[in-house]
Amino acid sequence: MNATPFSLVGKTILITGASSGIGRSTAIECSKMGARLVISGRNEKRLCETFRALEGDGHSYIMADLSDGSQLDELVEQSPTLDGLVNNAGITETLPTQFIKQEKLIHVLEVNTIAPIMLTQKLLKAKKIGRGSSIVFTGSISGTCVCGGGNVLYSTSKGAIHGFMKNAALDLSVKGIRVNEVCPGMIDTHILDNSSISSDMLEVEAGRYPMKRFGKPEEVAYGIIYLLSEASSFVTGTSLVIDGGFTLQ
Ligand SMILES: NC(=O)c1ccc[n+]([C@@H]2O[C@H](COP(=O)([O-])OP(=O)(O)OC[C@H]3O[C@@H](n4cnc5c(N)ncnc54)[C@H](OP(=O)(O)O)[C@@H]3O)[C@@H](O)[C@H]2O)c1
Repeated sequence: MNATPFSLVGKTILITGASSGIGRSTAIECSKMGARLVISGRNEKRLCETFRALEGDGHSYIMADLSDGSQLDELVEQSPTLDGLVNNAGITETLPTQFIKQEKLIHVLEVNTIAPIMLTQKLLKAKKIGRGSSIVFTGSISGTCVCGGGNVLYSTSKGAIHGFMKNAALDLSVKGIRVNEVCPGMIDTHILDNSSISSDMLEVEAGRYPMKRFGKPEEVAYGIIYLLSEASSFVTGTSLVIDGGFTLQ
């Protein structure tokens, strides 16, 4: 495992949103590459399912609702010194511009934008992320490359993360800390369960992809592993688009 620059042996990595979807898959794939994981989420049953699926030893899990400032502080407090941070937890909200409500805007920004920014800032301040570390955000093609009907709140939250990622990459480069994002297209996870998009609409949407399908969570996980590993040691401030060619059209 050590022979490959993609190895994560000896690295401790915190992944948020690891109870489901892309975060769960990333945690499992990182453990296969030798990482020691600290996984976080809100749903204990599903987080424990991820925990049990991890390969190797020394992993831990920390429950935290990241929209709650005191739980976010607790996560920082309990976190060990890290070599990698994957800010992945996120939600979606489908609403046309004229129907935006301030509470909904605030909630989406709290989870998708403010929490990952503040988690990063607090871990840096606590010196739990140091030289040689890699920070990865799960951004999206939405808000960085494309627009979609009803996607205004989600796009706004991910567009802000894109701006933060680039600025933080510049700020932290002198400290030898790299900051990047993956920008997935539509990935087959539970994120759309609470949205107003019907299964018929999803089928039509999948047909708009050049590969005629949505992505799989592990196809995003492999990109995150690249950004966490020494294979990307000269890569910072980058958006890695993982969308099956959707943004080529
Ligand atoms: N799926 C896609 O098509 C797609 C495309 C582009 C980008 N993304 C991004 O990928 C990331 C993961 O999404 P997914 O598709 O894997 O969705 P998912 O299966 O719904 O997983 C979302 C994760 O975020 C966690 N989470 C949500 N609200 C939270 C909060 N307040 N505090 C702590 N954790 C919270 C959930 O934890 P609990 O379940 O424990 O509450 C869950 O682990 C998100 O940032 C999303 O925006 C997804």
